[in-house]
Amino acid sequence: MSMLKHGRCVALVTGASAGTGMELVGSLGAAGYDVALLAARRVGILEQLAGDLQAMGRRSLVLQCDLADEAALNSSLDRLLAWSDGRIDAVVNAAGIPGSFNVPIEDVPIESFDRCHAVNLRAPFLIMRRLLPVMYRGGGGRIVNIGGNHAMRGRAARAPYTASKWGLRGLTKTVALEAGPKGVNVNFIAPGPIAVERMRHNWRARAERDGVDEQTAVAEYMHEMGAATRRPSEARDIVAMVMFLLGEGGRNVTGQDFVIDGGIVV
Ligand SMILES: NC(=O)c1ccc[n+]([C@@H]2O[C@H](COP(=O)([O-])OP(=O)(O)OC[C@H]3O[C@@H](n4cnc5c(N)ncnc54)[C@H](OP(=O)(O)O)[C@@H]3O)[C@@H](O)[C@H]2O)c1
Repeated sequence: MSMLKHGRCVALVTGASAGTGMELVGSLGAAGYDVALLAARRVGILEQLAGDLQAMGRRSLVLQCDLADEAALNSSLDRLLAWSDGRIDAVVNAAGIPGSFNVPIEDVPIESFDRCHAVNLRAPFLIMRRLLPVMYRGGGGRIVNIGGNHAMRGRAARAPYTASKWGLRGLTKTVALEAGPKGVNVNFIAPGPIAVERMRHNWRARAERDGVDEQTAVAEYMHEMGAATRRPSEARDIVAMVMFLLGEGGRNVTGQDFVIDGGIVV
C-alpha cells in the first residue's frame, strides 16, 4: 500500500460502532492501519473491534464522543494525536444520522435540522479543520467523507438530511482544492440504501406491514427508489470504495463523488 511510507499508518473512523464504519475497521486493520474508533453510544462494540485489531497486531484507540459536542470532539482529537504521536494518515467520516423522515419542511423540528447538521456536516468540518494541518506536516493523507445519494438530488420530506449531505459534498470539494497541493486527497462517497442493521429493521417492519417476506419488501423498496439493480448495497460495497480511495488507486483522485446506489442516480 502506497501510504505505508512511514512504517505504520494511522486512521480515524467515525461511526465505527455500526453499519459501514464498523465493517470498515477490519479492512483497515488488514491493510496495516492502527485505528482510532469513534462513536457516541455503543462503546462495547468499539471495545470489541479494538480487541480484534490488537489480535491482528494493530494498535487501536476507543473514542467515546458525541460528534455534536464540539468540546468533547476536540478532547477526543487531542487524545487521538497523543496516542498516535501526532500522526494521522487517513480519516473516514462515516458517522451520520438520518434526521426527521417523511416530514415536510413546514413541520421539520428546528432541533432535527440543527442536529443533523451538527453530526453530518459540522463534525466532519471540525475534524478536517483540526487534522488537515497534522496531515500536511506528516507529508500527506487521505480523507473520505461518507455522504449519501441525497447529496446528488433533492428528496421531498428529508430536508435536514439532504441539506446536511449536500453541505458535506460541497465542503469535500472545497477542502480537496485547498488540500491537494499539500498532499491530501479528499473524496465523497454517496451511497444509496445500504443493508445495515438499521435499514434491515425498517425493511422487516415493511415486510410485516405488507404481509410479504423481507426479500420481497427490499426488492419492492429498491424498485420504488428506481434502482437499476433492484438491490441495496451491502456495507462491504462502500468499504471497498473507501479502501480503493485510501490505496494505490486513489493516489491522484480528489474532489470526486462516488455514487454507490445500484443505479438510482444515473
Ligand atoms: N444505511 C444507509 O442506507 C445509508 C444510505 C446513504 C447514506 N448513508 C450514510 O452512510 C454513513 C454510514 O451509515 P450506516 O447506515 O452504515 O451507519 P449506522 O448503522 O446508522 O451507524 C451510524 C454510526 O454513526 C455513529 N453516530 C451517530 N450519531 C453520532 C454522534 N452524535 N456522535 C458520534 N457518533 C455518532 C453511530 O454510533 P453510536 O450510535 O454507537 O453512537 C454509528 O456508529 C452515514 O453517514 C449515513 O448517513 C447510509
